[in-house]
Amino acid sequence: MRRPIIAGNWKMNKSAAEAVDFVRDIRRDLNAITLADSVVCPPFIALQSVSEVLQATRIGVGAQNMHFAEAGAYTGEISTSMLKPYCQYVILGHSERRAYFAETNEDVNKKVKVALQSGLTPIVCVGESLEQNKAGLTHSFVSEQVQAALAGLSADDVNGCIIAYEPIWAIGTGLSASVEEAGRIIGLTVRGALSTAFGEDTAQTVRVQYGGSANPENIGDYMRHPDIDGALVGGASLKRDFVEMVRIAAEVKGIPA
Ligand code: 13P
Repeated sequence: MRRPIIAGNWKMNKSAAEAVDFVRDIRRDLNAITLADSVVCPPFIALQSVSEVLQATRIGVGAQNMHFAEAGAYTGEISTSMLKPYCQYVILGHSERRAYFAETNEDVNKKVKVALQSGLTPIVCVGESLEQNKAGLTHSFVSEQVQAALAGLSADDVNGCIIAYEPIWAIGTGLSASVEEAGRIIGLTVRGALSTAFGEDTAQTVRVQYGGSANPENIGDYMRHPDIDGALVGGASLKRDFVEMVRIAAEVKGIPA
């Protein structure tokens, strides 16, 4: 059984002080939701203080990126062992990292391996551009992204990953993918690629989120799709809407921990 998981990707928003105020504000209500997992992913500078506020709660903390090296001359980067005291999750291969910071499938693959070795749960992001979508390339592009990101891993390793299908054209645009389309890509393409590479058990075990203009109004519909296990949320995760989304996910198909 795949337990719902809603993660908030705050991107480059909120100072450390604002982050602490916000998680103090939502902590009690979020922690009261027992049938779904929730994760907040603040900027690096707020990870320590946010993790302190969320200590002894069921709310997870994630980073938005990391480097694959353990230490060294990588100005501006951060390693898993630096993240580990404060995080349980790490978002990898977000389309903004791929587009603005030239991250390749190979980089993402290295990061996934290192994250798993260190005990962090990777949230691996895949998704096609508008042009690819219009050209009918979604299936082949997303399949390739899934297989490349997870290349060389064992089925056991992959069972420990979360995948987020985020069509780039739906991110921050208000143009969310239809439930049918998101469900079809997640069910046939993402789980199909997992099945081909790691077997059907793994394809049915891995939790796969939808991301792209998810909000309290549409999350219930996504959650009702049998192949969608949650959401990776941008804009709406910066507000109390996030609590509402986790509550709805738990209501629609909650599973005890
Ligand atoms: P929005 O929810 O703001 O569209 O962002 C989605 C996203 O990129 C989450 O990683």
